[in-house]
Amino acid sequence: MQSTRAKLIQLLAVSREDYISGQALSEQLQISRSAIWKHMKALETEGYVIEAKPKVGYRILNYPNEMNEYTLRRGLETNWLAKTLIHKPIVSSTQDIAHELAKKGAEHGTIIIANEQTKGKGRMNRAWYSKAGKGIWLSMILRPSIYPYEAPQLTLLSATVIADAIKKMTNLQPQIKWPNDVLINGKKIAGILTEMHAEQDQIHYVVIGIGLNVNQEIEDIPAELQHRASSIQIESNKICDIRKIAQNLLAMFEKEYEAFIHEGFSKVKNKWESYGYKMGERVWLNMQNQRFQALFLGIAEDGALLMQTEDEDIKRVYSAEIEWFKED
Ligand code: BTN
Repeated sequence: MQSTRAKLIQLLAVSREDYISGQALSEQLQISRSAIWKHMKALETEGYVIEAKPKVGYRILNYPNEMNEYTLRRGLETNWLAKTLIHKPIVSSTQDIAHELAKKGAEHGTIIIANEQTKGKGRMNRAWYSKAGKGIWLSMILRPSIYPYEAPQLTLLSATVIADAIKKMTNLQPQIKWPNDVLINGKKIAGILTEMHAEQDQIHYVVIGIGLNVNQEIEDIPAELQHRASSIQIESNKICDIRKIAQNLLAMFEKEYEAFIHEGFSKVKNKWESYGYKMGERVWLNMQNQRFQALFLGIAEDGALLMQTEDEDIKRVYSAEIEWFKED
């Protein structure tokens, strides 16, 4: 549920440079005109510049620079995550900064977040488009007490937290495409890049990079990706508060991470499966020069896909080419 304040910002934002009258706002929000006035004053203290033209109405002239260390901290409900919080307006990649800091001993829970990345990195050396002020581009440094082979579970956990945060804050129904793409209506809106520095049986640190497309409009998505990538705004038709989503994401991550460390993977596995894209459906696999159909049963403890073949055999699949989409 959107708060009245959020709805008010939404109404002002969609009318852009046009004024919207106090009367119209009061009718649409079903609150008195003096309540509207109080909301406007409160917004001004948050950094919005609002023009109030007598007998005409209101419009927003300037939005607060919503993503900075101060605004991110205000209202952030975490205990240890983001205790060290580094916000940068523009970086090449938050992931690279996180690695540099982790090597110098940055503490568990350090967050690096940027408004814009000029060289955002995706999985498999792909680029990650990270336009200024349109999404959440963050990396977290973790020093978990788990074995290196368990690290993929953290990626699966991160995907469930992103899906939970979207579900909580929008009316959208997210899904997770194995291993870690978050989809809305079949289009990717978030990705996770987990990188780790470890020895055979000891993790030094893990960097989890999260990219979440929030307020891109369709023209912000590169043409060649528009059929399979999207944003929360495109899918919900609403401008979202990026800072609030980031704060929720961090608070929810901290909670789920602690549960995972203390209670193990089974809750994450169940949650992941509840969001699993094409779970319980037949998909095509290309393995060892063979193409065959298998039933997608779920995920295993190590993050592998469990696939049941025609002869009822259950296979653990790690890197098979899976035809998730028609054009794959
Ligand atoms: C993927 O789906 O390919 C993973 C995308 C990960 C993108 C994020 S944005 C923040 C962090 N910094 C990067 O350069 N990449 C990750």
